[in-house]
Amino acid sequence: GKGAAMVTAVAYRLTDQARQIQQTLAEFRLSKAQLLEVKKRMKVEIERGLGKNTHQEATVKMLPTFVRTTPDGTENGDFLALDLGGTNFRVLLVKIRSGKRRTVEMHNKIYAIPIEVMQGTGEELFDHIVHCISDFLDYMGMKSARLPLGFTFSFPCHQTSLDAGILVTWTKGFKATDCEGEDVVELLREAIKRKEEFELDVVAIVNDTVGTMMTCAYEEPTCEVGLIAGTGSNACYMEEMRNIETVEGNEGRMCVNMEWGAFGDNGCLDDIRTIYDQAVDENSLNEGKQRYEKMCSGMYLGEIVRQILLDLTKRGFLFRGQISEALKTRAIFETKFLSQIESDRLALLQVRSILQQLGLDSTCDDSIIVKEVCGTISHRAAQICGAGMAAVVDKIRENRGLEHLEVTVGVDGTLYKLHPHFSRIFQQTVKDLAPKCDVTFLLSEDGSGKGAALITAVGCRQRELEAQ
Ligand code: GLC
Repeated sequence: GKGAAMVTAVAYRLTDQARQIQQTLAEFRLSKAQLLEVKKRMKVEIERGLGKNTHQEATVKMLPTFVRTTPDGTENGDFLALDLGGTNFRVLLVKIRSGKRRTVEMHNKIYAIPIEVMQGTGEELFDHIVHCISDFLDYMGMKSARLPLGFTFSFPCHQTSLDAGILVTWTKGFKATDCEGEDVVELLREAIKRKEEFELDVVAIVNDTVGTMMTCAYEEPTCEVGLIAGTGSNACYMEEMRNIETVEGNEGRMCVNMEWGAFGDNGCLDDIRTIYDQAVDENSLNEGKQRYEKMCSGMYLGEIVRQILLDLTKRGFLFRGQISEALKTRAIFETKFLSQIESDRLALLQVRSILQQLGLDSTCDDSIIVKEVCGTISHRAAQICGAGMAAVVDKIRENRGLEHLEVTVGVDGTLYKLHPHFSRIFQQTVKDLAPKCDVTFLLSEDGSGKGAALITAVGCRQRELEAQ
């Protein structure tokens, strides 16, 4: 009868809708062949970044860090560390003790960096940083000691020594004026002078990936790679000096900050980028830049999800076709929300209550779709990040002429640590795409603070040696 026909029509519409949603998500589901292709292209870009004649126009910059060895346990002293460029800005005091019982003791304070300061003038940004240091030194009662300082500055820097770094370009949410092209160590030193309250000895500028690698290497000497899967995405590893054509000398190794977030900026990933990836890029502070990072880091995953949800809503498949203010709001889906939504322990009703907190009124069907969208996006993120890592470990293996390589990767970052599935899928992908490498992943405890202090300790020692 008529009732049955109506039921069929509704069911038909539903399956057609389900089919269209699946079609949209299918673009994000990469085959093994596609992932191998990503790995292969990363390898090509690595070689370009390292080469003398290709470095200039290379997108993956492969920046030398002037860190030549991992720590050996003899590091000793009290150090100040700054950590800028992750989820929080922090000032730390790190006390490293060598000897039979090695210890590292840390005190730290988190400071907010208001968005006006992140996107104001460089002078304001560095004055703010120095203001925070001043507060911290007062708090610790250490204003008179001229401490050595390691500056974890998690942005691409052209280094010519351990304590000089010219900012190539801001990434993530930063956009302060008059910093790009400048030596940020000098900017910091000048701001300290302007304040006229205390003296510090800035010894090292450190990328967070390098700090992470060094922290893990302190416990585990086979650690020669660092990975951040957090707000941004990046890796570093110990490369052979003979391969780093942008630095004099052929002996030994040096840690290279890959800045792999910029992978794809020359268009080499365009075949796997979707219209949603393009929308995220166009909506960002740095259009055309950090395209790989925009596919696999915490700052952007929620944005990809939001772009898809917007589109599905416009097509009438979600939220009763109503585009709410919340859905139009940039950056509402932070990593912690995605992590909650994807948690298997959470019932759908709880997913709905999270969406409610974000200002999104959902039905049960909506929540199923939202969860699937989130899962698809984080799955792809973990896989393409894994494809990048597979290229790195295979490169190290080839460098050493080995049939088989055992290596440890030190890892940090909110996405890796908080997300319920990212790390597992990432590790599985590395295994599948680099079968000749046996890779162990080690979580770093506060790599940015501890690592900066360790590098500063090594730097102080090197300086003493050179002075002799
Ligand atoms: C961005 C920065 C890079 C940093 C990464 C992780 O990609 O450019 O320097 O390591 O974020 O914080």
